[in-house]
Amino acid sequence: MGPVYLRPPQLLCLLGAASFLPPTGSLLCYEATASLFRAVTLHNWQWLLMRSMVCQLREGCEETILLIETETGRGVVGFKGCATALSHPPQISYLISPPGVSIASYSHVCRTYLCNNLTNLEPFVKLKANAPKSIAPSSRSCPTCVGRHDKECLPNSVTTHTCPFTAPTCYSSTLSLQAGALNTSFLLMGCAREHHKLLTDFQRIGSIQVTEILNILEKSHVAGSGPSGSRPSWGILLVLLPAFRT
Ligand SMILES: *[C@@H]1O[C@H](CO)[C@@H](O)[C@H](O)[C@H]1NC(C)=O
Ligand SMILES: *[C@@H]1O[C@H](CO)[C@@H](O)[C@H](O)[C@H]1NC(C)=O
Repeated sequence: MGPVYLRPPQLLCLLGAASFLPPTGSLLCYEATASLFRAVTLHNWQWLLMRSMVCQLREGCEETILLIETETGRGVVGFKGCATALSHPPQISYLISPPGVSIASYSHVCRTYLCNNLTNLEPFVKLKANAPKSIAPSSRSCPTCVGRHDKECLPNSVTTHTCPFTAPTCYSSTLSLQAGALNTSFLLMGCAREHHKLLTDFQRIGSIQVTEILNILEKSHVAGSGPSGSRPSWGILLVLLPAFRT
């Protein structure tokens, strides 16, 4: 038999495979982002993990998921990738607890092969089951929505909802969350204890950098007086930003 010649595509394959071999001591982690606001159900949400990445020496695998809920909808924003943080078991907690607008986080850093492998929202199910439930309503109603300014939360798709007694104030902000390839910006509005920044103590959640900009609510909503005019005006401060999703 003569010598075996590799045709260019085969050669490229070999070279490609070789360059994907991780250097010894570094870790392979799933790489993914999630940013979803429509039709998020706790039991059917699935994170497709199709990409992995080789980390730098000593880096670990991270997975961080935020579940953002209002009385009328929910959003999921997540990041998976390499991280320098120390390993820790999954931590699940409310950053902002219900009733009203709530934000729960799941965060996990580990250092074994593809260990950032959570694909569902099950960790949040138990957390929600133990969350306080407000029965008594207040006399205040607030525009309520979580989603992108140009999709789920267009002014005419925002609905008004009666606030719980313990969260009787209207809150509205634009949240921007950024980590690696994750770069998403969305509107969060609903009932809260007070209309001030909710996430001052959480400017970083895992690798996710948080920016919260309060929106100016219409005077009639804040004061709870008089009819609200013809068009809602909470569009003033809203910048349209694309949301990325894989
Ligand atoms: C996820 O990773 C853990 C290690 O952290 C492993 O024990 C488990 O089997 C993995 N699960 C799946 C579905 O791959
Ligand atoms: C995130 O997106 C915004 C708007 O498109 C852009 O201005 C900003 O530079 C992006 N940030 C990163 C870190 O990519």
